Amino acid sequence: MSGTFAARVTAAVKVYGSGDAEVRALDGATLGFGTGRFTAIMGPSGSGKSTLMHCAAGLDTLTFGQAYIGGTELGSLSDKKLTLLRRERVGFVFQSFNLLPTLTVAENITLPQDLAGSRPDPEWTEALIDVVGLGDRLHHRPGELSGGQQLGVPPGP
Ligand SMILES: Nc1ncnc2c1ncn2[C@@H]1O[C@H](COP(=O)(O)OP(=O)(O)OP(=O)(O)O)[C@@H](O)[C@H]1O
Ligand SMILES: [Mg+2]
Repeated sequence: MSGTFAARVTAAVKVYGSGDAEVRALDGATLGFGTGRFTAIMGPSGSGKSTLMHCAAGLDTLTFGQAYIGGTELGSLSDKKLTLLRRERVGFVFQSFNLLPTLTVAENITLPQDLAGSRPDPEWTEALIDVVGLGDRLHHRPGELSGGQQLGVPPGP
């Protein structure tokens, strides 16, 4: 593969379960996500898209093969280093949102930075909140939002 990749996997195999319950969700996938590009992954339900994303982002581990973020091979990292890399270099929108129900919208938005002990830039945070139209919902809990608001979909015109 040529060019630079923000993330890539080589010969990626992911097997869930064992015996009769075994599922081979990835079976030797090699691909890269080009730096500065948008990449869409398409395929039928159950074809392994979420599995691929989770493994490429360091949220889950491959059974065989390698996953890289930039030049870093994730399998070689300790749990602590992997946690730091995820916190500092990966953003992930889950298929089901994984918002923390007891935190407010504002607290959910800044949670990764709060955990990292860094102070969110108020102007940048405000700009993001503006884009997704949640300015008047900041002190609500996720359960009080619509499905699209939970996902952070811009409200449109
Ligand atoms: N934790 C798990 N344990 C066992 N099997 C799993 C697990 N997660 C996913 N699978 C199985 O692995 C396969 C791939 O699942 P995956 O969630 O990656 O599919 P997907 O392409 O994201 O599907 P969808 O479009 O429905 O979101 C499916 O057969 C699924 O049932
Ligand atoms: Mg999925």
